[in-house]
Amino acid sequence: MSLDEQHVTDPAEVSRLFNRIASRYDLMNRMMSLGQDMAWRASLVRAVADRPGPLLDLCTGTGDVALELKRADRSRVVIGADASLGMMRAGRHKDPRRTLGGWVQADAVALPVRAGSLGAVTVAFGVRNVARLDDLLAELLRALRPGGRLAVLEIFSPRSDLLGAGYDLYLRRVIPAMGTLVGGDGPAYRHLAASVKAFGRPEALEGRMARAGFTRVRSRSMNLGTIGLVQGDRP
Ligand SMILES: C[S@@+](CC[C@H](N)C(=O)[O-])C[C@H]1O[C@@H](n2cnc3c(N)ncnc32)[C@H](O)[C@@H]1O
Repeated sequence: MSLDEQHVTDPAEVSRLFNRIASRYDLMNRMMSLGQDMAWRASLVRAVADRPGPLLDLCTGTGDVALELKRADRSRVVIGADASLGMMRAGRHKDPRRTLGGWVQADAVALPVRAGSLGAVTVAFGVRNVARLDDLLAELLRALRPGGRLAVLEIFSPRSDLLGAGYDLYLRRVIPAMGTLVGGDGPAYRHLAASVKAFGRPEALEGRMARAGFTRVRSRSMNLGTIGLVQGDRP
């Protein structure tokens, strides 16, 4: 199977893929979302605003969510973690005053944090790429304090078949073309369509979070059901 069709989940390969597209990643995000992606990330930031304690933005990439978390409350400790050094390097210039508690290279399923130490974990557009999703959820439960929250922002397939067909076309044809012209790497952006298709609907993620042991699991959909915010709390 070629990279064009494959849903890439091997951590080393995912990291290489994001290293390749890092320098144009933010620009591609703004273009692919028609400028809406920062508003979606703002919903994620609001979802964890009332959770006391240190915050981890996992799969932080170029740090947009981590930096928004910090801007929303300067007194909070916010750490960004990602497997791709290239992505974090591409984002560091956005934090010239080094306000983040750290940019940590780590695999999502083996975090270098103490058990019960985090007030909340945010993950934007990252869990789709993690092959061992159940291990990831167990790891996040371990890392969160009782009452701590996991909030996930993701791209999902819309519920309507008609919309789904149009969206699939957008992901399979328009995004890779944009990836070639602007992102400098068409095949890397073909991976997006495959990973969205494989990931399914928010209900599936909600079910896995509930089975992992999260309580008050709920979701909210945005952008005609193509973007979802799924959250749950550690009991
Ligand atoms: C689509 S980007 C999202 C970046 C950022 N959260 C945002 O909102 O733009 C996905 C990120 O997840 C990271 N990632 C994927 N699998 C990972 C894993 N197993 N452990 C740590 N980071 C991972 C990638 O390196 C990449 O930077």
